[in-house]
Amino acid sequence: MKKKQEKDDRRTPGTSVVAKTDKGVMAGKMEKIISLCKRRGFVFPSSEIYGGFGAVYDYGPYGTELVNNIKTAWWKAMVRENDNIVGLDSAIFMHPKVWEASGHTAGFSDPLIECRKCHARLRVDHILEEAGVFADEKMSEEEINKLLEENKDKIECAKCNCKDFTKAKKFNLLVKSNLGNFTGNWEENPVYLRGETCQGIYINFKNVLDSTRVKVPFGIAQIGKSFRNEITARQFIFRKREFEQMEMQMFVHPDDEMDHFEEWKEKRWQFYLDLGIKEENLKWHEHENLVFYAKAAWDIEYDFPFGFKELEGIHARGDYDLTQHSKFSGKDLSYQDPHTNEKYIPHVVEASAGADRTFLALLSEAYTEEEIEKENGEKELRVVLKFPKKLAPIKVAVFPLLKNKPDLVKKAKEIYDSLKSQFMCEFDDNGNVGKRYRRQDEIGTPYCITVDFDSLEDDTVTIRDRDTMKQERIKAGELEGFFNKNLG
Ligand code: GAP
Repeated sequence: MKKKQEKDDRRTPGTSVVAKTDKGVMAGKMEKIISLCKRRGFVFPSSEIYGGFGAVYDYGPYGTELVNNIKTAWWKAMVRENDNIVGLDSAIFMHPKVWEASGHTAGFSDPLIECRKCHARLRVDHILEEAGVFADEKMSEEEINKLLEENKDKIECAKCNCKDFTKAKKFNLLVKSNLGNFTGNWEENPVYLRGETCQGIYINFKNVLDSTRVKVPFGIAQIGKSFRNEITARQFIFRKREFEQMEMQMFVHPDDEMDHFEEWKEKRWQFYLDLGIKEENLKWHEHENLVFYAKAAWDIEYDFPFGFKELEGIHARGDYDLTQHSKFSGKDLSYQDPHTNEKYIPHVVEASAGADRTFLALLSEAYTEEEIEKENGEKELRVVLKFPKKLAPIKVAVFPLLKNKPDLVKKAKEIYDSLKSQFMCEFDDNGNVGKRYRRQDEIGTPYCITVDFDSLEDDTVTIRDRDTMKQERIKAGELEGFFNKNLG
């Protein structure tokens, strides 16, 4: 667990926040991304026909492909490329004691105030941040209320601009359910939806150890949904109430913890570069105010349109997690080295990433606007998602030049059918070819194939490259080899 500021917490509490970017320009980019996500089937607000549902989103057809490609890349980098990491898929529901042991029931909270006029509930650190004041996450309710009092002239309700608020209270972020409770008084003994996936890893440490051939140092990796009652819905899919984590916990000898930590810092940085993120858009943020058991905590931040924010946390967590679960469950979670017979509680190095934030970072990185000249000399704005080819939701789009020419449609369908099981393909015969290109550019499709009248004569097609917009002619029989070579 790690509750913290998602802003620059190297500042002293109570000091001014300096605006980093031209908010107008950056907000413009964010709005364009949100609009494209809806228009082109990447992300939809949940339950939209019922007016939406705060901070919950659905991935549309292209978003689903993209998020699956992100998760596959993460799984490959973790489980397939590291001989000593195995996978897990633990349940969302766990015994309520798990969250007592982890400290979530007591300490997983954000400070909240309510506007007395419009009753909007607001996160105190966010409202202070907007007023240029930094609040430390470790502050008690009393300290937060003092800071609010000192800055009462600067803060106002984001919804109605009123300055009259209730006192700040800490609000627990765990989401409760009535699973398995038929008594009606479930709120007294709730079962929680998991607030982070890694607790499922800790409670299965012994099972994995006993059922596989792993030896310390080894890691367990898991991708799955987590749930948090985030107070304010902000920044699109950056802060969701239902989101997906990609977490890996490495169990190591206490003496080796910091070596593993350094190794994983490097590996995780490289992961984002391998996803095509430009290094200048990434930075490290070291946590200075560590929780008592942690040895080190660093975040990889990405320069989102709203500024640098956390993508992933890498933490050296000591023996806290296994010790706590040993204590609360009464089960011995120590490890005995088969060679030396040394018995110890392994320490944990954690790499905890968010699939949704990686998705947003990739969209932000890929979103490009270019002014191009049409054949008639007019200028046009081309919107392209320049995803790395391996991550693009659709790899190849196949078009017949004209939809009312059965021979062209038939040949284009044959080509589409011959490629679709190997590459994620789309068949499109709507509108003219120019419009189809624009649409494929907006969803980031690296290659478009057009079947024209020459194709019927000489079995060649044109392939158009998304980034250069150049077209080349190629034999239909050579398409598979071309894509195997160029899609990476
Ligand atoms: N097990 C450690 C842990 O959960 P965290 O910093 O709270 O640490 C890890 O979460 C990652 O999960 C974050 O870096 C972020 O990518 C993602 N994440 C956390 N809260 C999120 C939210 N409300 N919406 C989307 N992603 C979130």
